[in-house]
Amino acid sequence: MTDDNSKFTPRVFSGIQPSGGLTLGNYLGAIKRFVDMQEAGSHETIYCMVDLHAITVWQDPADLAKNTRELAAGYLASGIDPEKSILINQSQVPEHAQLGWIFNCVARMGWMKRMTQWKDKAGKNSENASLGLFGYPTLMAADILVYHATHVPVGEDQKQHLELTRDIAAKFNHDYGVDFFPITEPVIEGTATRIMSLRDGSKKMSKSDPSDMSRINLTDTADDIAKKFRKAKTDPEPLPETVDGLENRPEARNLVNIYAALSDQSADQVVAEFAGQQFGQFKPALVDLAVAKMGPIGDEMNRLMQDPAEIDRLLARGAERAREITAPILQQTYDIVGMVR
Ligand code: TYM
Repeated sequence: MTDDNSKFTPRVFSGIQPSGGLTLGNYLGAIKRFVDMQEAGSHETIYCMVDLHAITVWQDPADLAKNTRELAAGYLASGIDPEKSILINQSQVPEHAQLGWIFNCVARMGWMKRMTQWKDKAGKNSENASLGLFGYPTLMAADILVYHATHVPVGEDQKQHLELTRDIAAKFNHDYGVDFFPITEPVIEGTATRIMSLRDGSKKMSKSDPSDMSRINLTDTADDIAKKFRKAKTDPEPLPETVDGLENRPEARNLVNIYAALSDQSADQVVAEFAGQQFGQFKPALVDLAVAKMGPIGDEMNRLMQDPAEIDRLLARGAERAREITAPILQQTYDIVGMVR
């Protein structure tokens, strides 16, 4: 086993669950960075709507279909180009689930039980959680490794799942005495890897938060965005001279991070620009920036959603291209495991 991925094609894979609207957290922590990696051109890029993951908790079928197309529209409106990247819906590429089964037989119960997201999501009612929710991370490992992806851009909350992905690849390689799966590198970088709730700086911004005021949705109007930032929790202190002055000020830090990520600056540059100003001055600047950046994305999403047949056509084409990569990798995996053709 080796950590040397040089024999693998540089390839990026990442996914988002179509389990509800897209938030500014998803946009800044994931999609915007996916677009940057696509444009950098140094890697092949594959981006996914993980519908099989979404159903690990109950999804109304009509909503799942609508949310999957809306997520596709969100990717496209944000700048994912289906010519430059492969854009897919997970269930249309069956090799994800097929490799997921093999990995269910590689991963150990003890590894899975340690997953904090499982513990958080299943909570006290774990006896009643779906088996799929428990097995969620093995399917995620399969999403990545069925492409031999070398790099995975994600937000901070996915770090543990990516460590498990590395453990699964290493154990498979070790058990079968091969150097077949890469040991994938997580890419968790920049100011936006953990965007927090606008109401509580200790909680991450999430589509499942009961309060809509806690998040900016990609489809929010300019008025919604203005209202939510105006009411966002802050503290009475002015903005400091340096980012060190944001320590123990999670809400202030979060708004600075959002401004930095939206304007492609570092948090240092943002505080240098606004040092000494009150949030009464900073928030209107943040609203203007967010409306300028997010408004056109929301408009374009709404336009794309008018033509769901075109979205379906793009996804079918994406699945076809994806399977050119995944079918041979799955077949080789089966051969390694000893499955008779
Ligand atoms: P999901 O759908 O919860 O979130 C999608 C992406 O958005 C990031 N994200 C955030 N980043 C910063 N601040 C936030 N508040 C915030 N909220 C969400 C997430 O970190 C993620 O990158 N398990 C994954 C989906 C998945 C996947 C994969 C990802 C399935 N297979 C393979 C990468 C590779 C998830 O639930 O993401």
